[in-house]
Amino acid sequence: MKRRTCAGGKVSLPALGLGCWSFGGTDQDYWGPQDERETERLVARALEVGCNYFDTAEIYNDGASEEALGRALGKRRGEALIGSKVLPSHCTRTEMITRCEASLRRLRTDFLDLYMIHWPLDTAAPGPGGRHPSLQEALETMETLKRQGKIRHIGVSNFGVMQLKEALDTGVEIAVNELPYGLLCRAIEWEILPFCREHDIGIIAYMTLMQGILTDRFQDFDTLPPNRTRTRHFSSRRSGTRHGEEGLEALTLETVRAVQSAAREWGMRTEQAALAWAIEEPAMTCCLAGMRTMEQLEANVRAVETVLTDAQRRRLDEISRPLLEAWGRSVDLWESPARSRTR
Ligand SMILES: NC(=O)c1ccc[n+]([C@@H]2O[C@H](COP(=O)([O-])OP(=O)(O)OC[C@H]3O[C@@H](n4cnc5c(N)ncnc54)[C@H](OP(=O)(O)O)[C@@H]3O)[C@@H](O)[C@H]2O)c1
Repeated sequence: MKRRTCAGGKVSLPALGLGCWSFGGTDQDYWGPQDERETERLVARALEVGCNYFDTAEIYNDGASEEALGRALGKRRGEALIGSKVLPSHCTRTEMITRCEASLRRLRTDFLDLYMIHWPLDTAAPGPGGRHPSLQEALETMETLKRQGKIRHIGVSNFGVMQLKEALDTGVEIAVNELPYGLLCRAIEWEILPFCREHDIGIIAYMTLMQGILTDRFQDFDTLPPNRTRTRHFSSRRSGTRHGEEGLEALTLETVRAVQSAAREWGMRTEQAALAWAIEEPAMTCCLAGMRTMEQLEANVRAVETVLTDAQRRRLDEISRPLLEAWGRSVDLWESPARSRTR
C-alpha cells in the first residue's frame, strides 16, 4: 500500500484508511447493524494489506465503534495506527482528559496515534457546566496528553482557514485536518487545501465515495437509504436535511453517471476511478472509506493502487467541475453556507 507523510515527515499514513463509523453498530445506529465477525475479518485483512490507519470517534455509535475496533485489533494493536476524535463540547481541560481516557479504555490501548477535535469549537454547544471551551485550552490540553504519551499527534477535523489560523496561533503543532474530499465534494480545493499544503498539515479525506453513492451500486437516487440524502447535494424536501436549500440533485446525478460511464470505458469500477483520483491529489495524506464487507475492502485496496493517466485525471476534473462551481466554497456538507461550521 502506498503511504504518504505529513507534519514534517512525522506522520506516515496509508493511502487508504479504514473508516470505522459503522463498527459496533446496531439497528438503532446510523449505519445499522455491523456483524462483529466481519469487523474482525476486515481489520485483520486491512492490517495484512498495509491499510493500517483506523479512523474512529467517541461519538460513533456512542463509543461502540471504538470498542469494536479495540476488540478486533486485540494483540495486533502495535501494527495499527488509530485516530479518534473528541467532540467540541468535550474540550474543556478536565472533560477532554476524561474523554480521552475513556476512548483509550474502549480501544484497549494506552495511546492514540492521532487525537482530533471533531468539529470547530466556535459552533459547539456548551459542555458540562455550561462552559464554552476555548481553542487555546483544548489544544493545550492535547499538548498535555501528548507529553503524557497518551496521544502521539494532534489533529483537527472540519476546520476552515480562519479556524486553522487560530489553531496555529496557539503554537501547537497540528498534524492533520480531516475533511470531506472527493469528486462530489471538492470545495476544500478553493482555500483549505492550499493552506494545509503551505503549512504541511496533512489532509485525511472522508466520504470520498460519498457514502457509497460514487460506486456502481446506485443508478438513481430513489433507492438510496434516507440517511445518505442529507447533504447539500440533496433537496431540503428530503427528510433529515437541515440546509434548507434546493439542493443539486440533477447535477449530482449527472456527475455520478458521467464518472460511472468514464470508469466503464476505462475498464474500471467507479470507486476505483473515484479513489484513485482523490489520492492522486498531492496534498492528500490518506483517503478514508467506510468498508463493511471484505469485497469492499479488496475493491478499495485495488482502487488506491490504480494510477490514472493524465487524460483520465483531466476528464474526471472536467466531469466534476460544474458541481464544484455550483456548490461554491462552503465545505460543510450538511449546513447551508450561511450556517457553515467550517470557516
Ligand atoms: N471527521 C468527520 O466529521 C467525518 C465525517 C464523516 C465520516 N468520517 C470518517 O470517514 C469514514 C468514511 O466516511 P463514511 O463511512 O461516512 O462514507 P464513505 O466512506 O463515503 O461510505 C461508506 C459506505 O460506502 C459503501 N462502500 C464502501 N466501499 C464500497 C465499494 N467498494 N463498493 C460499493 N460500496 C462501497 C459502503 O456502503 P454499505 O454500508 O451500504 O455497504 C460503506 O458503508 C467514516 O467511517 C469516518 O471514519 C469523518
